[in-house]
Amino acid sequence: MTAFGLYIHVPFCPQICPYCAFASVAGRGESHVPYTEAVCREIESWRHLPGPLHTVFFGGGTPSQVEPVLLGRMLETARRQFGLVSDVEITIEVNPGTVDRERFAQLKRLGFNRISIGAQAFDDADLRLLGRIHSADDVEQAYLAARASGFDNVSFDLIADMPGVSENHWRHSLDRAVDLAPEHLSVYSLTIEQGTVFAARKRDGRLISVPEDLQANTLQWTARRLIEAGYEHYEVSNYARPGYRSRHNWGHWTGAAYLGVGLGAHSFIAGERFWNTRDLDAYLAAGAAGQSLRDGDEQIDEDTARQERLWLGLRTIDGVALAPGEIEWMRSNPRFAELQKAGYSVLEADRLRLTDAGFLLADALGLELERILEESKDAAA
Ligand SMILES: C[S@@+](CC[C@H](N)C(=O)[O-])C[C@H]1O[C@@H](n2cnc3c(N)ncnc32)[C@H](O)[C@@H]1O
Ligand code: SF4
Repeated sequence: MTAFGLYIHVPFCPQICPYCAFASVAGRGESHVPYTEAVCREIESWRHLPGPLHTVFFGGGTPSQVEPVLLGRMLETARRQFGLVSDVEITIEVNPGTVDRERFAQLKRLGFNRISIGAQAFDDADLRLLGRIHSADDVEQAYLAARASGFDNVSFDLIADMPGVSENHWRHSLDRAVDLAPEHLSVYSLTIEQGTVFAARKRDGRLISVPEDLQANTLQWTARRLIEAGYEHYEVSNYARPGYRSRHNWGHWTGAAYLGVGLGAHSFIAGERFWNTRDLDAYLAAGAAGQSLRDGDEQIDEDTARQERLWLGLRTIDGVALAPGEIEWMRSNPRFAELQKAGYSVLEADRLRLTDAGFLLADALGLELERILEESKDAAA
């Protein structure tokens, strides 16, 4: 197995944000130690998997809320179990309301070398709309503290298309983010996830999603602004300075194997996808008893794998490799010719990819390109 990544889920959060459906719990400080022990045991249960790890990603939840000594224990267990390549990427997600310079210095000493800051916005009123616990100034202070502690690979998460946030506010937020010059930015359009406070507000008519054409305008402006500032738009929602793509997520998008440990974590190993329970007490009890933590699994057959490669590949700047028969089919297909002419998609050598304009319509284009490729199979049958 090559390019193997480890995801460690840390579910604890200062409070649950009204838009978020990640496996997370507020409070539960008393569970930090037993949770760490359960995660370490889970990592050790995978001793038959060959290392070394190319990437380790501590995501959440809010891993930065947990004592560094506990994070260090999980990381050390992974290092002992699988080994790490010499240039391993070790990322931690950080909520700006939970860190200071000392915390970053501790993380640096433990071996973390990439920081992903959940900024979301750089405007206090907008952060309140998003239900965040921190101010715009806290985001800036967290960023400067990470820099002062020697981190040279820092990313911001931003949420676009929040109802009530004007276009001007969004542009101002993005300008402030760019002025700080992080190596990487993830820009997500707000999605209304089932079971969240925002979903309830939407049902009651108290929250109305931003219309799709306005969303497209915002994302188009955002892409232009970030590309002009020197970022590569390397995945639909992700931008990086040259050499600073998220290697961990790149692995996910290009079909590399990954092991996910912790609450609700997903894994993809040897053609099988499986995931852990999202119930913290069940996770802790099963972990303590040495029982299975698994909540479900799915065998990925050749057809599904091909479909997934297409969908994930089309979301990246490298696109997806086509078989010789598919290339010929595409070259002579009038619908594909139209997509090319409109500047949404290109076929270069054996790679089919979306353009920057195409990224804005990734879902619709993915569907259309999948249909065209399916017809090539039918024609060959
Ligand atoms: C696990 S959180 C990041 C770390 C930390 N928990 C925090 O919030 O600061 C992952 C990211 O997912 C994004 N996210 C979560 N729910 C979202 C939603 N419903 N719509 C858009 N982005 C979302 C946010 O940008 C968030 O920073
Ligand atoms: S966005 Fe981050 S801090 Fe907020 S609930 Fe989700 S994981 Fe926790």
